Amino acid sequence: MLRLRPIIAVLLLLLSLPLVAEDGRISAQLAETTEPLVPLKQVLGEKTFNEAMATGKYSFATNFKCRLCHRDFFVGRKKDAHDHTFAKVVEAGHGEAQQCMGCHTTGFGVPGGFESPVTTPKLANVQCEGCHGPGSEHIRRNARGGFLAGTDRPEVLKQMCLTCHNERWNRAFDNFQQAYDSYKTAKPGDEK
Ligand code: HEC
Ligand code: HEC
Ligand code: HEC
Ligand code: HEC
Repeated sequence: MLRLRPIIAVLLLLLSLPLVAEDGRISAQLAETTEPLVPLKQVLGEKTFNEAMATGKYSFATNFKCRLCHRDFFVGRKKDAHDHTFAKVVEAGHGEAQQCMGCHTTGFGVPGGFESPVTTPKLANVQCEGCHGPGSEHIRRNARGGFLAGTDRPEVLKQMCLTCHNERWNRAFDNFQQAYDSYKTAKPGDEK
């Protein structure tokens, strides 16, 4: 019996490991000394980004506004992982770490975008505008277009994906084109 004790102790330790071990990528991300990532700025380039923002045409409407005209997309997205990204950083204990916000919220670092769960709770998670960019100009037009990363700019939209899904955070998909195409329908993963 006595001899078994150390073995049991080791087994218990092994069993509990997945619960206590923090994802090593988190500490690596927190240790970054560069400015927190702003996907839209990164993708457009600082000059184009600043020029677009200076027009004053681009602000965030939140997914509740998108819902008015795209109910199918709004409902379809409710189960998508992007709609739950903020909970991930909160559960990990880093709900206020700036280094996490660019990829887990909508428009962090963009004027009028996410700032904190207290001041901008409606822009938590990667919502519609987290991929397509601010929607005010699109809504004003009430027609195709008006986005900085709309479907008329697939190369820009693809770079949005790949800026968040970067070398460190690369576990979401094996086949990028397939993952990208699944967002063409209201419910990602549905057959076209
Ligand atoms: C007042 C109505 C209205 C609202 C609100 C609205 N849209 Fe649209 N949207 C449209 C119309 C109309 C089209 C064109 C549909 C078509 O041609 O089949 C469109 C098309 C789109 C397209 C495809 C074309 C493109 O320009 O890329 C995207 C993406 C899109 N909307 C996203 C959004 C998002 C995100 C929001 C919220 C920020 C939003 N829409 C809010 C009316 C609206
Ligand atoms: C460059 C963008 C980016 C940054 C910055 C970022 N994340 Fe993420 N995170 C992602 C992506 C993309 C995924 C999903 C793919 C994956 O897990 O590799 C993800 C997934 C996660 C997950 C779920 C992992 C799992 O195994 O289910 C947690 C938890 C997480 N991130 C926490 C954080 C925390 C905490 C920070 C800040 C220290 C952070 N992330 C910063 C992009 C990012
Ligand atoms: C993860 C990124 C992502 C998010 C989040 C996202 N979209 Fe999209 N959306 C895409 C991609 C990718 C396409 C397809 C682009 C293409 O055709 O090349 C697309 C296409 C669309 C289209 C055009 C569909 C068509 O018929 O051509 C509409 C409308 C749209 N999205 C609205 C929304 C709305 C509304 C939301 C929020 C409820 C949303 N999207 C959230 C990535 C996203
Ligand atoms: C602003 C950052 C951001 C952008 C832009 C973004 N993602 Fe993500 N994506 C995330 C994060 C964070 C997660 C992790 C969510 C989680 O683990 O719950 C994620 C999760 C995913 C998943 C996993 C879904 C699942 O059910 O596990 C896929 C697939 C994915 N993203 C594809 C894409 C594609 C394709 C695009 C572009 C059309 C895109 N993402 C754009 C941040 C982003």
